[in-house]
Amino acid sequence: MRRFLVAGNWKMNTDRESGTALASALAEKYGSDFNAVDVLVSPPFPYLASVVDVTSNSAVQVGAQNSYFEAPGAFTGEVANQMLKDVGCDSVILGHSERRHVLGETDELINKKVSAALENGLQVILCVGELLSEREAGQTEAVLKTQMDGGLQGVSAESMANIVIAYEPVWAIGTGVTASTEQAESAHEYLRGWLSSAYSAEIADATRILYGGSVKPGNAKELMGQPNVDGALVGGASLTADAFGGIIDAAVELASA
Ligand code: PGA
Repeated sequence: MRRFLVAGNWKMNTDRESGTALASALAEKYGSDFNAVDVLVSPPFPYLASVVDVTSNSAVQVGAQNSYFEAPGAFTGEVANQMLKDVGCDSVILGHSERRHVLGETDELINKKVSAALENGLQVILCVGELLSEREAGQTEAVLKTQMDGGLQGVSAESMANIVIAYEPVWAIGTGVTASTEQAESAHEYLRGWLSSAYSAEIADATRILYGGSVKPGNAKELMGQPNVDGALVGGASLTADAFGGIIDAAVELASA
């Protein structure tokens, strides 16, 4: 039985005061005895350490939004996985569409980052997803295949225990347009099939696949209620404790159903 994961991606939002307040509110609501689903927040780099501090006695895990594949050294402006571990991070989001399409990250670069993060004991949330033009051209599954083949190249079956996949159709991110439950489930089913042929039925069955793209308290239960949707990667709605809490509560309801 896969455990739901509700992950917040704060992107380049919050400041020291609001980020700490948001994390504290979540830590209070989901204390160390909360065990129904996994909850994770991913603040910007400068606030990671203070968010780790205020969530340390709670169920809230903390992750980063990116990392570099090299060990600490002369790489101006980059952040090493070792540094993330050092400040108490549990995981890292890699391959997010904004990094692919705004910053120009390729599957090859993402793959190096995935391997390095795994080697350093971080859980990786690997994001994949098609552009609207690719969906309209009937290329959704081909794009997902390329991103999965590329992103997970060389990743061992053993390491898959630390991989979470996030399906995020690019046209649904920050747009208010959510994939229909059928569109989401069909992409998730494809991704699970990919995992099964690339690894094994057991690994496909155990790997969590999150949906991301305009998830809100109002649509979370329907989306996460699909058989192959194991949680959510939430951008905009993760920026208030009420909205993010509403999505976590929906996962809790589904987990206890
Ligand atoms: P959104 O972002 O929830 O604001 O659409 C999701 C994401 O980019 O991870």
